[in-house]
Amino acid sequence: MAQTDETRANAPDQTIEALSSEDRTFPPPPAFAARAIVSDRSIYERAAADLEGFWAEEAAKLSWFKPWDRVLSWEPPFARWFEGGQLNVSVNCLDRHVEAGQGDKVAYHWEGEPGDRKAITYAELLTEVSKCANAFKALGVRRGDRVAIYMPMIPEMPIAMLACARIGAPHTVVFGGFSAEALRDRINDAEAKLIVTADGGYRRGKPSGLKVNVDAAIAGDQTPSIEKVLVARRTGQDVTMETGRDVWWHELVDGQEPTCEPERMESEDMLYLLYTSGTTAKPKGIVHTTAGYLLGCSVTHRYVFDLNDDDVYWCAADLGWVTGHSYILYGALANGATGVMYEGTPDYPAPDRWWDIVERYKVTILYTAPTAIRAHMKWGTEHAAKHDLSSLRLLGSVGEPINPEAWMWYHRHIGGERCPIVDTWWQTETGAIMIAPLPGLTTTKPGSATVPFPGVDADVVDAEGNSVPLGGGGYLVLNKPWPSMLRGIYGNPERYRETYWSRYPGRYFPGDGAKRDQDGYFWLLGRVDDVMNVSGHRLSTTEIESALVSHERVAEAAVVGTPDNLTGEAISAFVILKLGTDPSPTFGEELRQHVAAKIGPIAKPKTLMFTPDLPKTRSGKIMRRLLRDIAAGRALGDTTTLADAGVVEEIREASRSGKDDE
Ligand code: WTA
Repeated sequence: MAQTDETRANAPDQTIEALSSEDRTFPPPPAFAARAIVSDRSIYERAAADLEGFWAEEAAKLSWFKPWDRVLSWEPPFARWFEGGQLNVSVNCLDRHVEAGQGDKVAYHWEGEPGDRKAITYAELLTEVSKCANAFKALGVRRGDRVAIYMPMIPEMPIAMLACARIGAPHTVVFGGFSAEALRDRINDAEAKLIVTADGGYRRGKPSGLKVNVDAAIAGDQTPSIEKVLVARRTGQDVTMETGRDVWWHELVDGQEPTCEPERMESEDMLYLLYTSGTTAKPKGIVHTTAGYLLGCSVTHRYVFDLNDDDVYWCAADLGWVTGHSYILYGALANGATGVMYEGTPDYPAPDRWWDIVERYKVTILYTAPTAIRAHMKWGTEHAAKHDLSSLRLLGSVGEPINPEAWMWYHRHIGGERCPIVDTWWQTETGAIMIAPLPGLTTTKPGSATVPFPGVDADVVDAEGNSVPLGGGGYLVLNKPWPSMLRGIYGNPERYRETYWSRYPGRYFPGDGAKRDQDGYFWLLGRVDDVMNVSGHRLSTTEIESALVSHERVAEAAVVGTPDNLTGEAISAFVILKLGTDPSPTFGEELRQHVAAKIGPIAKPKTLMFTPDLPKTRSGKIMRRLLRDIAAGRALGDTTTLADAGVVEEIREASRSGKDDE
């Protein structure tokens, strides 16, 4: 098993100097201010002066079966929000809009990759969710049971998630790009009773299989908790259906009663679990609860995206990640928004697919990741120029630091220089946006997520926890609890305490480096722990190392993230083979496939180097900084490389001197 160093202090001071364009500022365009739903700066002061009062006022806009007794109980690091209150998330997302006469409003303009389209209204969505909820009950799912969801981006996916919320059965969505093995681990950790999937989904014009991965994940007695598998038909590909266990969606769900009484959930009941990568080989099940989470993502969605009744809002993420959970589904529907949902890749059948979608539905708000923006930059400006993008009035960014070049391209070629860009910093754990401008209020700077959302108390501190003066860099911390914060790591309170709250007692440590400029603006600098951000996907170096080491011919492995123009970071692996194994490119490819099978194709190392040694400190920790330099400095290309003499020498040298990596 590879050894790793502890949280390292690599990012802050090195990267700060690289930020050059912070003096270019962009005031909100004047035409925009007229629409802004938050136009009064006093919201910040109000929230800072009375945190609980601020959130209580917002919470009153949700629909409750029973009001809360107490806004916040805070016994660090455990928070409980709106205790005593009862509500149902699906009622807030659906029933109350239908009851208010909005039943015919479109909830989603859905578009499949092959070009099939469907508009789904709030009334239709309520009916479908109710039927699905009844089907879950028929399959034996009860309040409190966990349901795993492994699906393509088809309407059945949000329907299944909301059906879980309706009956109080927490879901755990596993991104469709994860392998059978990764799916199995999550099912077992969550002890899910039901898995909802599809035969497959479309990816770059081809049907790819999902049910086949489910079959592999749950074969034999590998997932003792699973009782049933519900399968939606999407591609029509051949699948094996096991009698008594596997049920077709169209055979069970379609015939159900169209209404279903919502469960009265307690504020702190678990809404869902979502697994994310941490600094160990085992992903963490992040727990989100009902009232605080719904409140956090709906309020931030409304204010940060300046949501108006006639907006057409497109969050181009996948529902398999937290961005999809909070801003395709819960936040957006709680606000009664009309959204766009697209199944496929942005360059199929041609790189103008997204812009075609923006033009067709007259999208007004687009929310995406820097990695996607950089891909569009690479494909060329002419694809966007073919389409009328004049409906757009607001652009968002999330997932990784946005480089100023990508920011400028997005601003100019997509936003026509008239749309504010909201760069939003947050994480799976925070549930909702924490640092972002409020359009109409906040002057933006390319590359900065600007200022904390009202009520969010963020700071930048040094290793000892002292606040760093403006102009300096260090570690981001959050000083106060917030409604949508994670309530824990499923089944592991100790790991929760240790990961997020031990470094700076009483304060939340998200694992990111940050700098603040003279105006107090936050510049996020990336992870400072063993987590990588590849195309906006969070991946653990340790998890990939342990996948590599699980190959019978690998003795030891180290994985680091290196800067990449397209994907933000790329995965570089250094591998020591067992004696007698030929370090050939073919074997390198075999190892990449091995990682894909263990975790998923997204975790395949871009570069893989066989080496006789790994540089270690005297205490035996791998010196990642040196490996990062080697991987970054040598532009290793996409293929397997054998350590050249120079690298070997460097590694040997470092191993001999055993310098500390801190
Ligand atoms: C990074 C995605 C800079 C950060 C919502 C964080 C960002 C991790 C930004 C969380 C941003 C996200 N600027 N970095 N605007 N947004 N990050 O859990 O390192 O998939 O810790 O949540 O992405 O990734 P996660």
